[in-house]
Order: sequence, then C-alpha cells, then structure tokens
Amino acid sequence: MRRIAEMSSEHEQSIKKRIIIEHLKELLEEEISEAGSRIVKAIIAEQEGSIKAASVLREIAYNEAKHAVLIAKVLPDNPFADTRANIQSSIEGDSDAAQRENDFARIANEAGMEDIAKLFEQLSLEEKEHVARLKEVLAG
Ligand SMILES: [Fe+2]
Ligand SMILES: [Fe+2]
Repeated sequence: MRRIAEMSSEHEQSIKKRIIIEHLKELLEEEISEAGSRIVKAIIAEQEGSIKAASVLREIAYNEAKHAVLIAKVLPDNPFADTRANIQSSIEGDSDAAQRENDFARIANEAGMEDIAKLFEQLSLEEKEHVARLKEVLAG
C-alpha cells in the first residue's frame, strides 16, 4: 500500500516537472518578445523626444532579455548555449529575411506600392549588412 502511495507521488512530481518545463519554455518566448517590443517602444519614445521614457524602456528591455537568459540557462536544452551556433543561426535568419524582403520589394513594385517597395529594399539591404558583419565575427 505504501509503495503505491510513493509511486503516485513520484508520478505527480514528474507531471509537475513537465508542467514547469513547459512554463519555462513559454516564459522564454514571452521574455524575448517583451524585450523586443520594449526596444521598439524605446525607439519611438526617442523619436518623440521623450528621452526619459526612452531610457527607462531601453533599460527594461535589457532586463527582460536578461530574464530570457536566466530562463534559457535552466532549460534542459538551452537554445542559446553556444555563441558560434547563435551567430550561425542569426546569419541564417538574416539571410532568409534579406531574400524574402527582396522578393516582397519586387511584388510591392508590381502592385504599384513604390514607397513600400523602397522600405523592403532598405530592410533587405540592412539584413545583408547584418549577415556580412556576423560572417566577419565567425571568420574571427
Ligand atoms: Fe520579464
Ligand atoms: Fe535581422
């Protein structure tokens, strides 16, 4: 009887562990997204001349990103564990984005949306610059 009680408590513990890991994974995405949106808000505040708001939002964005780091480090499979791999995946992401925005620039031009086409072209160019800078880092 006692053995069955132990087994059920072990079972409960393993279910709770799984729930915690799932929560950590969701929290990681949330912290990353919060960090990004705070940076966007900081830039907008800066452009409006709200220097204090910009600086507080930027500090909080950095702090949210640090929360993400703390969470990633306790995950069984830390997706940001290795800097070379982080740079490599950033290169892949930015290369894909550069290609995709270039394609959308063409479509926007065909749709008669010249201003939007220019925006896509600018984004594509800057993504290519990111790729070049990151490749320099990898080359050491
Ligand atoms: Fe946070
Ligand atoms: Fe990018």
